[in-house]
Amino acid sequence: MNEPSIFDAATVLPDEHLTSREATLLGFERRYAQVANQLRLLLSAGELDAWNKRFHAGRLALSELVANQYPLVLFHGDVGTGKTVTAECMANRIVRESRTEDSVLFKLSTRVRGSGKVGEMGTLLAEAFRTVTESAGNGRRAVLVIDEGDSLAAARSQEHSHHEDKVAVNTLIQGIDGLRRFQGRVVTFLCTNRLGAIDPALQRRAAIVQEFQRPTADERRQLFAMDLAALKLDPNQVMALVDATGSREIGPPWTFSDIRTRLYPAAIALAFPDSSLQIGHLLAAGTELKPSPVLEDR
Ligand SMILES: Nc1ncnc2c1ncn2[C@@H]1O[C@H](COP(=O)(O)OP(=O)(O)OP(=O)(O)O)[C@@H](O)[C@H]1O
Ligand SMILES: [Mg+2]
Repeated sequence: MNEPSIFDAATVLPDEHLTSREATLLGFERRYAQVANQLRLLLSAGELDAWNKRFHAGRLALSELVANQYPLVLFHGDVGTGKTVTAECMANRIVRESRTEDSVLFKLSTRVRGSGKVGEMGTLLAEAFRTVTESAGNGRRAVLVIDEGDSLAAARSQEHSHHEDKVAVNTLIQGIDGLRRFQGRVVTFLCTNRLGAIDPALQRRAAIVQEFQRPTADERRQLFAMDLAALKLDPNQVMALVDATGSREIGPPWTFSDIRTRLYPAAIALAFPDSSLQIGHLLAAGTELKPSPVLEDR
């Protein structure tokens, strides 16, 4: 295949790497528990009929309505708060728990926007949905993660919305509508920083909507306790880190990714290769760096 793929990755689930990643995410269990019941319903749409027959002699009309839910999960919130990693780990968990095999996690690439040729984006997007649905079969699931969803799913009513973009949103809506046929075997996660920018028709279709936020002081404390357990810091030292990463007069509190992908490497760079990592390195790195600016949802 010499054409660039419209997917950044196609990962066979369950995936060991994602399974171990899940354990490093603070609050994952709580969030998963929150959505697990809804997810189970969404994923077992094919079994609702039997349930209705068993418990309601097939007369519960509501079960049809529920079976018609759109398999769309929407994650929204500030930068670096865990939307992408949670979507991937949840997809993995779903497959693990439903004991299905050969299920695939597809991550849609921004290449799906194409090179600007007329009609290209709509065509590529339709092709992406075809690939995803073809990979789902009897007992096999497919999960599609659309990251930075606002770049594809922005409201069609926006002034600067081009014809091409409108076609893409329509194709996306049709794609998601078409997934209902698969009775829960294909699920889409859409992640965005800006819920307000997502087309209302897509927002309305989301069966599950979850907001992500920057960690609170207590969550940062737990994060440091988990990540830095090997340093055996005393509680005062941990609190010093919690304070150093809190909100200041100017500036918001740090995000998960500010801490994990910027603070830790900067601190290790100060220690490596001649010294062990110490609280002083972490605090010094903390004064050098600034948290990511808040991305306003408008
Ligand atoms: N709940 C969490 N507990 C611990 N670390 C987390 C958590 N959520 C995210 N992180 C860390 O933050 C990093 C960034 O997460 P992720 O890329 O999922 O954020 P995002 O919300 O998708 O950000 P963006 O809006 O910039 O795409 C992850 O690599 C992970 O290490
Ligand atoms: Mg992301």
